[in-house]
Amino acid sequence: MSSDDHELRVSKIRNGTVIDHVRGGQALNVLAILGIDGTQNEQVSIGMNVPSDRLARKDIVKVEDRELSQEEVDVISLIAPDATINIVRDYDVTSKHRVERPCQVEGVLTCPNTTCITTEDEPVTSRFEVLDDGVRCTYCGTIVRDGIADLIGSR
Ligand code: CTP
Ligand code: ZN
Repeated sequence: MSSDDHELRVSKIRNGTVIDHVRGGQALNVLAILGIDGTQNEQVSIGMNVPSDRLARKDIVKVEDRELSQEEVDVISLIAPDATINIVRDYDVTSKHRVERPCQVEGVLTCPNTTCITTEDEPVTSRFEVLDDGVRCTYCGTIVRDGIADLIGSR
């Protein structure tokens, strides 16, 4: 029996996506990946560092009326490897799957090395290999373990 059985910290949603079992402390980064900053009338509920059976502490992000692209899920998997993506329709969970970490991600992270060919004026799309504990730039070998979310955005 989980603590959810006693107490629901974040209300259920009617339609949308619940990103559950997010590593504690990563909820705001998940929102950043989804481009959600609250200015577009998005309806979003967040739980941070709530008790969880599977993780010591988890974050949870509920976004109404939105489904995620595979690319968004791939990037979320880098910072929340245990996350589950639940699709909710008319209050029921109609689909649930664990995120899978891709072998590599292209065009979604910016290399922090300012002399990397991908950050200079060359038409080279960024590409990172996904490691167990971080990502490595295919072009210059720079490894990023913490702060992956900070690399998200420009291509
Ligand atoms: N949820 C929600 N709104 C709904 C239905 C579910 O916000 N209308 C949330 C639940 O609060 C939970 C997640 O979606 O955080 C998954 O729901 P469910 O599969 O019912 O919960 P569990 O069985 O506990 O999920 P898991 O086994 O993945 O932990
Ligand atoms: Zn690089």
